[in-house]
Amino acid sequence: MRCVTNGANGGERTDAGDLTPAQRDRVAAALADVEPGKGNLLPALHRVQHELGWVPRAAMTLVARRLGISEAQVYGPATFYSEFRLTPPPASLLTWCSGPTCRVLGGERIKLILEETLDCRLGENGPNDDYGLWLGQCNGTCEQAPQVWLNGRVVGKLGLADAARLARRLRDGETADAIAPPPADAVEIQPALVRRGETP
Ligand code: FES
Repeated sequence: MRCVTNGANGGERTDAGDLTPAQRDRVAAALADVEPGKGNLLPALHRVQHELGWVPRAAMTLVARRLGISEAQVYGPATFYSEFRLTPPPASLLTWCSGPTCRVLGGERIKLILEETLDCRLGENGPNDDYGLWLGQCNGTCEQAPQVWLNGRVVGKLGLADAARLARRLRDGETADAIAPPPADAVEIQPALVRRGETP
């Protein structure tokens, strides 16, 4: 098992989610080259989610302004499509890579072990909302396949026993940082996500 930093995106609905000035800047930068018009709504929402890990209500307002459409026109699709998350990620977020290389190298069996050990299905949080097991896409670090991300840090070359051990530690209350501390020389590819209970 090896850890490097990377981004994670990251359940349930819904939270007003005021944005800090820093978050507003991040969202504004993410939307800067999105052209106005309703046709760009879904890409704009994806950008917000990619940036923050979820889509706060206040960010929907920024999307509406950027696209020149009403907030209702943003709110409807944002709450309709289950791929958009309207609450912050849990304190410890495990993201399972669904990319082809990870699948070929045993990702499906890893997913089953994680679901069984964590007592939640992919896309859900655990019984106490302390952790979640969410879906991720290939992030370009396939040399570390099969992999999961723990709070945005890649835990790669994962064997079945590694996956079971990691899930047990999460289930038993260990923090993400304790399980997969960031290496000193790691480069953060994306800004850290804002998680439930954190003050950004
Ligand atoms: S397929 Fe999993 S990191 Fe590329």
